[in-house]
Amino acid sequence: MQEFAGYFRDYRQKRGYITMIAIANDHVGYELKHMVIELLDEMGLKYHDFGAYDTERSDYPTFGGIAAKAVAKGECERGILLCGTGVGISITANKVQGVRCVVCSEPYSAILSRKHNDTNMIAIGSRVVGPELARMIVKEWLTTDFEGGRHQMRVDIIREIEQSRD
Ligand code: RB5
Repeated sequence: MQEFAGYFRDYRQKRGYITMIAIANDHVGYELKHMVIELLDEMGLKYHDFGAYDTERSDYPTFGGIAAKAVAKGECERGILLCGTGVGISITANKVQGVRCVVCSEPYSAILSRKHNDTNMIAIGSRVVGPELARMIVKEWLTTDFEGGRHQMRVDIIREIEQSRD
């Protein structure tokens, strides 16, 4: 059973299917999260909201870390993170093995991060990016496929570096 679950997860990831999106934020990203959720609803995509669930001061690594682990384990194919700048929460996510998180404030990098880097998480700063631009960024990021080929080889090098302990 375990083996089957792993097989289907790998298959979905290879084909770029998105069945579940992890979403997380701190208090500063809370409002923007709801705007992003509106977009996911419009796109008919399912998500798991890992919090924070209100605007009370909270710590971005706590929530970003939980969402990143869900992506690394394959429970969610992709993850969207929101904090003030997107920086702290993306640094956190990139500490989790298997996560490639881009912090993004315009669509071009979001698209290229999918095509070339096969990013599985994106972080957006609510103090940097307005709601309409955030929607555009997320939409492009969710609908762009990884190109593979020479880019796969580079992503493999990233993985090797990540797994080396020296
Ligand atoms: C919180 O004040 C702020 O530091 C956080 O939202 C984020 O911008 C960190 O990178």
